Amino acid sequence: AANQMWGGRFAEGPDAIMTAINASIGFDKRLYAQDIAGSRAHAAMLAATGILTNKDAEAIGKGLLTVLSEIEGGNFPFRTDLEDIHMNVESRLKEIIGEPAGRLHTARSRNDQVAVDFRLWVRDQCDAAISGLTELMKAFLSQAEAGADWVMPGFTHLQTAQPVTWGHHMMAYVEMLARDRSRFADARARMNECPLGAAALAGTSFPIDRHATAQALGFDRPTANSLDSVSDRDFALEFLSASSICAMHLSRFAEELVIWSSAQFRFVRLSDKWTTGSSIMPQKKNPDAAELLRAKLGRILGATVALFTIMKGLALTYSKDMQEDKEQVFDAADTLMLALAAMTGMVTDMTANREVLAQAAASGFSTATDLADWLVRALGLPFREAHHVTGTLVALAESKGCDLPDLSLADMQSVHTGIRAEVFDVLGVENSVRSRTSYGGTAPEQVRGQVARWKAALA
Ligand code: ARG
Repeated sequence: AANQMWGGRFAEGPDAIMTAINASIGFDKRLYAQDIAGSRAHAAMLAATGILTNKDAEAIGKGLLTVLSEIEGGNFPFRTDLEDIHMNVESRLKEIIGEPAGRLHTARSRNDQVAVDFRLWVRDQCDAAISGLTELMKAFLSQAEAGADWVMPGFTHLQTAQPVTWGHHMMAYVEMLARDRSRFADARARMNECPLGAAALAGTSFPIDRHATAQALGFDRPTANSLDSVSDRDFALEFLSASSICAMHLSRFAEELVIWSSAQFRFVRLSDKWTTGSSIMPQKKNPDAAELLRAKLGRILGATVALFTIMKGLALTYSKDMQEDKEQVFDAADTLMLALAAMTGMVTDMTANREVLAQAAASGFSTATDLADWLVRALGLPFREAHHVTGTLVALAESKGCDLPDLSLADMQSVHTGIRAEVFDVLGVENSVRSRTSYGGTAPEQVRGQVARWKAALA
């Protein structure tokens, strides 16, 4: 049988496989609340502008609430032959209220309808991402506050570089996550324009009030160009892009956790809640959650690339290609929210091994830069020469199988006669981190200042 929504010119119904490839109800049912909110705002506006009678608009508004409670109660008869959420809702509305249901679609098209539904949904996800990020930032802040002065090795190339503080390392993630939050906030602000009323693509001859529907749905204003309104998916792409960057940050900390929780490092202990055992090796405690978090970017970035590829080269305005937008965004959003929650739990529950961190901080000639700086400060050596002297001392220590602080003063003076006993003060890791007081540096006082600033900002 021909379709009841658009079947006027059709003699035959679709092939079963056509129905399967064409239908989006299997996934776009997730837009039901946004679809009903958009329709209610539209109906109220149609009444206020005299396009619909108050009586019809009231019947529509009430009927839509019945549909809403049916869906939320789990007893809504979703039908694949009705393609998508828009036609499922409208068709059910007709069963409930009869003839006035057919007037709801006046001055509207599924093209602006899906655009507004999806924007509302993505807007909510930006808010969810922002609150998930805020929780994760708080978890990193607590770690930073507790260990503002715990020394650990700082790495470049994953080779020991200079001692840093645990708090400083934790606060690096707070900065990254803060940028993520601002990307979602920024995207949210830009997407907050209402496409409803663009109709199919050209606008409508009915005297609609797009400012009223925009306001009713919490948008700042209506979109300004009807063609752009129905063909734009930038809001989804921005959400996916921000999600990808955020997931990339999570994957970096996940990798650090995998390394740090290994028996060779033992920098942190992950709680039982975020690890799993092995069915054959009884000693194992595997960092599965961290490994999965390391992987999730693959999925989110995949969705991002997919939607860019779908949108690339699409002539204006709406094409059915764009129906492929939703599953990508749904999956990326679900993945991101789960990842943020899992990372928050793991960071909250992890325990830094302060002694191991301190030992590791002191090994690997980590204070070589401090020694070179001392040669510049105390002896007036040019930095390049100081670098060379220090390198020679490192080689000497290495040949003796010891670290820099273990060399005797005589050893030191054999490389440079001017070296005095006070040099040993700068070779300790505690002094090293305490000395790095430049703004944004690793000194505990700097870290505490950053913690206080962020605590106030997040309170
Ligand atoms: N299910 C469609 C989508 O998700 C809704 C818009 C359909 N518009 C149309 N003219 N076929 O994109």
